[in-house]
Amino acid sequence: MSDKAIITLEGRQYEYPIIVGSEGEKAIVTQKLRSDTGYITYDDGYGNTGSCLSDITFIDGEEGILRHRGYPIEQLAKHSSFISVAYLIIYGELPTAAQREVFRERIRKEASLHTGMNSMFNSYPTRSHPMAILSSMLNSLGCYYPHMASNNREQDIEHFDEAATLLISKVRTIAAMSYRAEQGLPFVWPRKDLRYTANFLHMMFSEPYDTYEPDEDIVEALDLFLLLHADHEQNCSTSTVRMVASSGANMFASVSAGVCGLWGPLHGGANAAVVKMLMEIDRDKDDGTRFIKAAKEGKARLMGFGHRVYKNYDPRAKILGRAVERVLVNLGRKDPLLDIARRLEQEALNDDYFVSRKLYPNVDFYSGLLLRAIGIPLDMFTVMFAIGRMPGWIANWREEAMAPKQKINRPRQIYTGPAKRDIEDV
Ligand code: ACO
Repeated sequence: MSDKAIITLEGRQYEYPIIVGSEGEKAIVTQKLRSDTGYITYDDGYGNTGSCLSDITFIDGEEGILRHRGYPIEQLAKHSSFISVAYLIIYGELPTAAQREVFRERIRKEASLHTGMNSMFNSYPTRSHPMAILSSMLNSLGCYYPHMASNNREQDIEHFDEAATLLISKVRTIAAMSYRAEQGLPFVWPRKDLRYTANFLHMMFSEPYDTYEPDEDIVEALDLFLLLHADHEQNCSTSTVRMVASSGANMFASVSAGVCGLWGPLHGGANAAVVKMLMEIDRDKDDGTRFIKAAKEGKARLMGFGHRVYKNYDPRAKILGRAVERVLVNLGRKDPLLDIARRLEQEALNDDYFVSRKLYPNVDFYSGLLLRAIGIPLDMFTVMFAIGRMPGWIANWREEAMAPKQKINRPRQIYTGPAKRDIEDV
């Protein structure tokens, strides 16, 4: 195969290098295109644009493959934990038992928040969306650690390990407090004896007069949920983190922006949108047929279906679909929404509209049902996604911050407004 791409423009040929990733993905390097030719590439929505080189996550959307640092997601889900996968994503290798203990201990020690933050939580009106609180509080968190959030690249990198464990730990405390602030409930402090996921459930659901003792099945299911969300290469929120980081901004500011990118219903907000959709279908006493028809006519969108990269079943959706069933059986419960979801899935997978467009269940199709089974309130679904995605954002911030190029990310545009005109004399 030629290692050059030849582009012909206005009768002249230009040669551009080709690069090949470790799994064989190919790209044309067009950095000099504009200076050579005056042309730029136009790729609305960035479906064909590689914005970085990355060692973290590999996805083959056609085959439904997801690997972190080379390890298939199915193996990680079966044999690992959220904390070990967070370590893998950030540092490149699964931790040894000793490394895991040190990492856990550092996370454990960072669980509480400066009391100054309490008054900030209390100043939000009740019913504020916890995603809005989470984003602002993550950025504010940097104000309490100015030496880690200096916007001096060398200094921020020097404090990277500290800032990474601090963010992984405190995002969970902030998330729980955002919920309690939204509900007007008193804050519950973390416990030293509980591990990461159980501690989160304690901070969410314990009361000063009544300690919540999390069920092992629930802790395991939530840990799996977090693990499956830990990274997903250059999605909307992670690209946002890298975009912000490329300006030299610190990690707190960058992940706070990532939370905002995640919030929308076409991205992380889809987990709540799926459950709302299933509730509406249930309320309308539809067996799913009417909804599928409306989706095909463009009058509705089948939330949790379709993906920019996957043109096959999202491997995380398969694992989550099985996990919801397992949790419900273990808890001795049934969820009519799961039956509706299964029916919608069957209808869609046998319908030419969805088949021809390669629309399959994505991670959000079953994740909301899992959170619902665990007892997480609907408004917190996307916040849970953000807790899970924190290691991925951190690892991508680091790659961006340590990239040899140190170049700001700054796309161009094709201007389509009015051509030059002059103000008329009045
Ligand atoms: N329901 C019905 N039709 C759909 C759906 C859907 N969920 N998704 C895509 N389509 C249709 C589009 O209408 C379009 O049809 P057309 O070719 O006749 O115009 C075609 O499939 C291609 O869709 P696009 O919107 O161009 O695909 P894109 O890659 O831009 O969007 C996205 C991907 C945003 C995920 C889309 O599939 C969607 O909106 N899905 C529902 C929301 C969702 O589940 N988001 C979570 C994604 S996973 C994540 O971010 C964590």
